[in-house]
Formats: sequence, C-alpha cells, structure tokens
Amino acid sequence: MATNEPSWSQVVGCLVLGLSVLLASCSDAPSTTCFDVDADCTLGEAAGEVGRFAGTTSEARGWTDEPVGDLVRRNFNSVTSQNELKWGALVRTRGVYDFAHADETVAFAEENGLRMRGHVLFWHRLNGPPAWLDAELDIGDPEARLRELMREHVETVVGRYKGRIHTWDVVNEPLVLLGDQVDPESMFFQAFENYEDFLDLAFRLAHEADPDAKLFLNEIFASFNQSSFDGLYRLVQGLVDRGTPIDGVGFQGHYIFGLPEREVLVERFQAFADLGLLVEVTELDVSISQFPNAVDPFVSQAEVYADVFGACSEVEACIGVTTWNSHDGATWLDRDATFAPRAPHSPTLFDEELNPKPAYDAAREALLEPHRG
Ligand code: G3I
Repeated sequence: MATNEPSWSQVVGCLVLGLSVLLASCSDAPSTTCFDVDADCTLGEAAGEVGRFAGTTSEARGWTDEPVGDLVRRNFNSVTSQNELKWGALVRTRGVYDFAHADETVAFAEENGLRMRGHVLFWHRLNGPPAWLDAELDIGDPEARLRELMREHVETVVGRYKGRIHTWDVVNEPLVLLGDQVDPESMFFQAFENYEDFLDLAFRLAHEADPDAKLFLNEIFASFNQSSFDGLYRLVQGLVDRGTPIDGVGFQGHYIFGLPEREVLVERFQAFADLGLLVEVTELDVSISQFPNAVDPFVSQAEVYADVFGACSEVEACIGVTTWNSHDGATWLDRDATFAPRAPHSPTLFDEELNPKPAYDAAREALLEPHRG
C-alpha cells in the first residue's frame, strides 16, 4: 500500500546522509598536513598529499632484509620490481616459470598498501630476455615464433598479477643508447619485419591481459639527451597515432653520463602530456661522480633530486618518481662491470647505514613546493 509516511529504510538513509554531510564538513576543518611548518612527513606521505607516487625498487635479497623492508614501507608509497619480473629472471628454463621472488614483491606491496609497478615485459639488454630465446628464434620464422612466445609470456605474467600490478613497463629501452634510432642489436628489432608491429603487439597483449593496468614505454636517457628524447617522442607519437593502448612514458633518469635541467624536464614531461599520456620518472639515481668539483657532492646531488621531484610535481601528468635502489649499499652502479671502477656512486636517497641524505629532504620539499597555497 502506498503511503506518505517515511519507511524505516528512508529514515535510516536520511540519518546516514546527515552523518556523512556532518563528517564531510568536519573534514574541511584544518588538520595537520605536510604543508604545516612543524609537519614531520615522510617522502611517501608528502607524495601522497600532492597526488604523486614516491617509489623505490626491490633489492636482490628481496623483502626478507627487514631493515630495508621497514625503510621502504615507512618512506615510500610505491615499489617497482628491479629484476624479478624480467623475462630472463622468470623463465630461466624454457616453459618453467619461477614466480617465487616476484610473488614476494607483489605481496610486500599489497601488505603495505604500496602501488606496484611491474618492470618489465620486454627488454632486449642484459638479462632482460631469457638465454634460451635466441635459439628459439633460430627455428623457422622468427617473427611468427616471437609473436607466439610474446602472447604466452604476457598472458602468463600479466594474467597472473591482473588487478595487483597496477602499472607495467611493457617495453624497455627500445633505442640505441644516447641515440634516436631503434637499437639494431635488439632481438625484437631483428625478428620483426616492422619494429612498430612489435611495439603494437606488446601493448595490445598487455591490454588484453589486464585492461585496467597502466601501460608504459620506458626509456633510459631521454630526460637529458636530445637524441634520445627525439627518438622516444617519434616512437610514442606513432603508438598514439595508431591507437595502440599506451598510457604513459617512463623517463628512467640514471644520471651517470649527464644531468637534467628542471625546465627541460618540465618541457619534456609536458610534451607527452600533450599527447594525452601520463609520465613517470621510473629509475632515478644520481651518481656523485657527476660532481667532481663540488665542495660537497651530496649538496649538489640534493639539488638534482629537487629538480627531478620538483619538475614532476609541477606537471600534472607526471604521476611519480621512483628511485633505483632504496639505499647506497644496494646500488647496481657499484656492482656493474662498466661503472664499478668509479664506485662509490652513492646515488640514492639513503646512505649505507640507511640514514636519509640531504637529497631526501630536498626531494620532499620539491614535491610540496609547487602546491603551496
Ligand atoms: O640473480 C643472479 C644470481 O643468481 C647470481 O648468483 C648473481 C651473480 O652475479 O647474479 C644475479 O643476477 C644479477 C641481478 O642483477 C640480480 O642481482 C645479474 O647478474 C645482474 O646482471 C643484474 O643486474 C641488473 C641489471 O638491470 C640487468 O638486469 C641490476 O640489478 C638492475 O639494477 C638493472 O636495472 C636496469 C633496468 O632493469 C633497466 N634500466 C637500466 C637499469 C640499470 O642497468
């Protein structure tokens, strides 16, 4: 029977609505934020407050190294797998996936409420591809075989972590180092008649496997080298023009051959934003070898960190900055055959004893500064 009397559910509904309005108006009241003079925010908290990710990468020993795990969960709000999701690390033997380390990283991110970046589906350098792949491509038609293997790999890996890995580096470092052409040494370049078909397929497969994941093309030196930027821009514009499902562009930012300028960073981030894409700084480290004449190299290093975090905070499309290794004791640069002779590089935000360096406060302040009222 129709009646004008309110039902119990309507009464309860009104009470709930009234309470939410009351709570909403309370939340407008001043509360402590990272912008307050006496605020004691971590980098991750400041990043969250300005809608950004401040991330770091997993260590070789995984998250069982508890002092490091604790440092990461307290100071960052995002984590990237450093090696464990590389094709070569996941599938050492043809057909046999070992997800143990990758599962551990994804679980660590979930348990601690950190955004998870998956690095990387297709990378032709070092241990990016599995050792057995070359031999596989020698049998029959290499492009056809690679297409099959790519599909199998993406379905297996992106499918496994669907909804849990929010962002993927789909293709890493397509360009020759410090140049604007696709690397002719790339097995993907060599196997495909048209390299664009390789790129399109990689992104389409990833999108099919997890339509909600953000898909990135990640390049190494494009933030400070003009040729790298030009080559990257050309590739990305092609992807966008062809309607390939790309969401963003990663600027790695390993500063070992040169340093970035803040205005140039802003321009380059904005160039991709104008194509409708997101941007991230995905692998930031700043070697102190870049400051041979500095009175205090750690002060100079802090200025570079401020430039990078500040530029990202200035451009709306830039959603985050990830540092490559959480502390100086874990940096890949001191172990790499090419760069070890110049060690120690001390390139991260924390020293070997896990104490924050000048770059830490500089990065946090640079994130906040463009958003101060
Ligand atoms: O896991 C093996 C281990 O089983 C073995 O005992 C040990 C012996 O040396 O090697 C271990 O693998 C090493 C791995 O790091 C984990 O420590 C590889 O040899 C070594 O090549 C690998 O280096 C990584 C490199 O990529 C190559 O994959 C670095 O840690 C990692 O920081 C670096 O990251 C790359 C990005 O993926 C792409 N952009 C450039 C960046 C720096 O090169």
